[in-house]
Amino acid sequence: MSEVVVIQDLEWKYSNTKEFALRGVSLEIEENSFVGVVGANEQGKTTLISCINGLIPHSHHGVYRGSVQVFGKEVREQDALELATNVGMVFADPESQFTAMTVEEELAFGMENMGFDLSKIREQLDWVSDITMIGDLLDKSPYDISGGQKQRVAIASVLAMNPPIIIMDEPTSMIDPLGKQFIFNILRRLKEAREHTLIVVEHNIEQLASLSDQMLLIHEGKVARMAPPAEFFDDPAYLVERGIVAPEVTEFAYRLRELGQFSADIHLPLDLDNGIEITKSVLDRQHS
Ligand SMILES: Nc1ncnc2c1ncn2[C@@H]1O[C@H](COP(=O)(O)OP(=O)(O)O)[C@@H](O)[C@H]1O
Ligand SMILES: [Mg+2]
Repeated sequence: MSEVVVIQDLEWKYSNTKEFALRGVSLEIEENSFVGVVGANEQGKTTLISCINGLIPHSHHGVYRGSVQVFGKEVREQDALELATNVGMVFADPESQFTAMTVEEELAFGMENMGFDLSKIREQLDWVSDITMIGDLLDKSPYDISGGQKQRVAIASVLAMNPPIIIMDEPTSMIDPLGKQFIFNILRRLKEAREHTLIVVEHNIEQLASLSDQMLLIHEGKVARMAPPAEFFDDPAYLVERGIVAPEVTEFAYRLRELGQFSADIHLPLDLDNGIEITKSVLDRQHS
């Protein structure tokens, strides 16, 4: 296993604020894993990912201490092209990313910038149109489609450039429920393909938990917790104090366990099917 992101004792203060936004962050992210990032507002999630994609310190002024390495090299020392090659970004507002008149041009534009040849561009175009389900949007204007479709195009244009690390900052926060579901489906396909390291900040804890290899809780500029989902939710009170509510099925099983209904070494369920399995085993035991 190899780590693609290694952060040590990172502290960051924006020049126009008194308080440090990041206050001693250390963590490692494994290649091709899915990291779900959660936390209340203003706790430092966006600041942290900005330190991975290089916006900090390259496009912000402030005080920087500690180390952030992406593929073994300090982000501080990487130039814009190197960073763009390593890390792709999807923001909450997809429109902020658009520059072209049609969706197809939008996708091609990034790939041309990366120096891809025509056959590579064709190949990538087919692949991303399929995975993001935008094949029927290619000749439309990216400004003239629904919010959910815009976000799919934004994701497609990042995927097209094929960065090994893809970061999404609240990618579903501005779109309707059906549109959100499409985005989660794309995330699931990307996760199953295991060809990218995915770092996703998202408030839908249930969806995120079912996708994540590691869940990362950022609180007051620090890592409050980083663990695989089943372990992450093991102390609901700790999470609630930090603004995070576990999926209902997880909370349900946790309370059953507190009542002594099943052993502490059974992992808490993250989805309904898993919850039903555990409930069944509890009931079976009572009836036998
Ligand atoms: N560009 C900025 N300039 C000054 N302060 C900022 C800037 N961006 C964020 N902050 C501050 O840094 C802290 C962390 O913010 P942020 O990383 O955006 O949190 P989150 O993404 O968890 O909501 C907050 O106190 C916020 O006000
Ligand atoms: Mg944010």
